[in-house]
Amino acid sequence: MSKEPMDTFDYAPALESTAVVDIKAQYNLFINGKFVAPKSGKYFATINPATEELLSKVAFADLADVNAAVSAARGAFTKTWSKMPAAERGKYLFRIARILQERAREFAVLETLDNGKPIRETRDTDIPLAAAHFFYHAGWADKLEYAGVGNSPKPHGVAAQIIPWNFPLLMLAWKVAPALATGNTVVLKPAETTPLTALLFAEVCQQAGLPAGVVNILTGDGSTGAHLVNHPGVDKVAFTGSTDVGKAIARAVAPTKKSLTLELGGKGANIIFEDAAMDETVEGIVNGIFFNQGHVCCAGSRLLVQENVLDEVVEKLKRRMQLIRLGNPLDKNTDIGAINSSAQLARITEISATGDAEGAQRWTINCDLPNKGFWYPPTIFTGVTQAHRIAQEEIFGPVLSVLSFRTPAEAIEKANNTPYGLSAGVWSDKGARILWTAQRLKAGVIWANSFNKFDPTSPFGGFKESGWGREGGRHGISAYVKGNM
Ligand code: NAI
Ligand code: MG
Repeated sequence: MSKEPMDTFDYAPALESTAVVDIKAQYNLFINGKFVAPKSGKYFATINPATEELLSKVAFADLADVNAAVSAARGAFTKTWSKMPAAERGKYLFRIARILQERAREFAVLETLDNGKPIRETRDTDIPLAAAHFFYHAGWADKLEYAGVGNSPKPHGVAAQIIPWNFPLLMLAWKVAPALATGNTVVLKPAETTPLTALLFAEVCQQAGLPAGVVNILTGDGSTGAHLVNHPGVDKVAFTGSTDVGKAIARAVAPTKKSLTLELGGKGANIIFEDAAMDETVEGIVNGIFFNQGHVCCAGSRLLVQENVLDEVVEKLKRRMQLIRLGNPLDKNTDIGAINSSAQLARITEISATGDAEGAQRWTINCDLPNKGFWYPPTIFTGVTQAHRIAQEEIFGPVLSVLSFRTPAEAIEKANNTPYGLSAGVWSDKGARILWTAQRLKAGVIWANSFNKFDPTSPFGGFKESGWGREGGRHGISAYVKGNM
């Protein structure tokens, strides 16, 4: 049989150069405007998950370092940042936003190296959105009285911020920009596998002339994060990560006066009605689950398809998935990069195996996986029932569970049958049906005929075990001021 043209067509490599980044052999902690050695004297490795090569060693912050950082943030809050006219604070945020744009290529390459995500995504999504968050919040700094968050909104003081590894610089921006715009100072802890863009951001703070101690960055692990959350000098805690750690933080903060926001896991339903425009829908399904290797809390990881179009959707989806290019994240043609860590790969492998064991049917694209690094091929499971673990638990990888429904009411019931409530998507030709469905879904973010669209003006956050509070927009600002709405 002769080969289809699509089978023989191939892309020449289009590698992004790494010459633009200058990775140091070792990084210290950023406390009070300076890089200082950790009191522990300890450093740990961060690697490139696509090659398993060592990128650098970063300092391990223990309690003594947490004490120093919180005290620097407190000093900056009382002496400088809370006293500064709001318009002046705004100028620093504008300056940071512009520097992020100027150095966008450097940030994009560094993020791809440290995280494993494709350069196409860091270049087109992570870094531009991070800059956009600073621009947006810069504009609010001197207009807070008009934000609908109280007549005379006041900052909490020192914010402890803990972020995950799936969108390292973007999650930093979601946390740092609103905190600074509202007059808080910050101690931020990036995730252990992706600390490098946060450390480059520390250099940006220096370049912008940000007063010392307004932003402090501590690298370390969960114990560093726990010391930070428990520190009595912290007024506000903001966390993005796993639901288990989120619950532990909620317990730790409950008996204190600390204000808390949590952005946790999800198991987003992507609902396809029979009248949806099928080709666009299939693009949306692919974007919903395979964007960022599926390391996305709001991923559309549960596909709910109306039964009479199920076969058509699955067939079109498989055809489209076969065109996904997996490989070197620095290649501009790559759609799917490396899984962020061996631990995450083990987790994806383990939960997916329960899909086979519980009777769902696995289908995987036909592609070669690189010999080195951590990889998982884009996978779908059909024949999934609601009781299956792969329909209930967050896999946080490129694995889609496909279920079906007959009536709109059944779609709602199945979509809401999860402990999470972060995101959902609705695909239909009829606006009325989309609105009817959206009103009945228990999810913080609902996309209509689209998926995974983000904007700094739009609040983001969940119901139930997906977390408390919102980030982005005016809602996100309210989390950083006292006397909320
Ligand atoms: P994690 O929740 O352990 O890590 C997130 C951040 O929390 C990291 O900076 C970590 O150092 C810090 N941390 C860990 N324990 C802490 C503690 N006791 N107190 C304060 N900070 C602490 O997430 P992990 O282990 O990397 O991923 C496990 C699973 O969590 C994933 O498979 C995924 O399902 C989910 N996850 C969800 C994310 C989201 O965006 N909602 C992000 C990352 C993971
Ligand atoms: Mg890394």
